Amino acid sequence: MLAITAARFDKDAPSAGVEVGDRPEPAPDEGWTTVSVRAAALNHHDIFSLRGVGLTQEQLPMVLGSDAAGVDEDGREVIVHAVIGDPSAGEDESYDPKRSLLSEVHNGTLAEKVAVPRRNLVPKPPELSFEEAACLPTAWLTAYRMLFERAGLEPGAALLVQGAGGGVNSALIRMASAAGYRVYATGRSEAKRDGATRLGAYAALPPGERLPERVSVVFDNVGEATWSHSLRCLRPGGRIVTCGATSGQAPSAELNRVFFLQLSVLGSTMGSRAHLERLAEYCARSGVRPEIDRVLPLAQAKEGFAAMERGELFGKVVFTV
Ligand SMILES: NC(=O)c1ccc[n+]([C@@H]2O[C@H](COP(=O)([O-])OP(=O)(O)OC[C@H]3O[C@@H](n4cnc5c(N)ncnc54)[C@H](OP(=O)(O)O)[C@@H]3O)[C@@H](O)[C@H]2O)c1
Repeated sequence: MLAITAARFDKDAPSAGVEVGDRPEPAPDEGWTTVSVRAAALNHHDIFSLRGVGLTQEQLPMVLGSDAAGVDEDGREVIVHAVIGDPSAGEDESYDPKRSLLSEVHNGTLAEKVAVPRRNLVPKPPELSFEEAACLPTAWLTAYRMLFERAGLEPGAALLVQGAGGGVNSALIRMASAAGYRVYATGRSEAKRDGATRLGAYAALPPGERLPERVSVVFDNVGEATWSHSLRCLRPGGRIVTCGATSGQAPSAELNRVFFLQLSVLGSTMGSRAHLERLAEYCARSGVRPEIDRVLPLAQAKEGFAAMERGELFGKVVFTV
């Protein structure tokens, strides 16, 4: 079958390690099943994998990808939940310390077929296209939990999203605007800032610029490049919700500011199968849909990886099979 693999690691030019080629079809274990992938989406996680984060040389070639929507062995349209956990560890696989994401231990979704535990299948609502549904399992699920579970926002509160066009960030802007929050976003170009306001942001500013007001919550997955600004944008008692560190994981903690202003830093990672099911229903009912930058045939996957590496995207890259 056609599959996109990480063939080698390259810290400086990760996309150079992408290989498009033939791989054996998956042979599912007991309790697992095979999904015929119709659409799969790209995440920054795949760029980190190509840099050698979370994978070892011995695991290569590894099929990349943690997002997919497709058809199961019984012909049902499904979304694939990407978090693989031990069922005995509880309902929320993301709290299992031994959990993995598809493409970390087991082959991922950027292929004609992917093997997954049967319990990881979520029905795809008919209102969503395969392309839209494929955007939900990683970036959108993470944004959904950050916004609706972790942030603890008062209705109508002001918030900031650091970055505009990323998968997680465009999801945060879209869902938070639809939910009636006053959303500020930063974007690295005028086009990205325009995109943020198109998604519903109240205002979009260049990185580091002073906001017209202090906000209750900042969503920051950029890390070193934005952390200090995130702390400065919070009102006393405010919260940063973080799920990533794209530009580096070790900014100054600025502890004086954290304790003096009684700020909280909240981590968030992925979500449970139940969250994914609720997210899919939320999208179906609300009309909120993932922002898709481009749709490419799987065979042209390299083009999508290169665009993400260059930071050119506004929204998700989706590959069709
Ligand atoms: N913990 C989890 O469960 C989880 C789940 C999903 C993602 N993540 C993490 O969250 C991060 C975002 O993932 P993604 O898939 O949404 O990535 P992405 O689509 O590549 O988006 C990257 C985002 O970072 C912003 N950014 C701002 N300054 C940056 C800088 N100096 N360098 C690089 N990027 C900068 C970009 O802003 P512009 O719009 O201005 O370009 C863009 O919004 C990654 O670190 C990823 O690993 C974690």
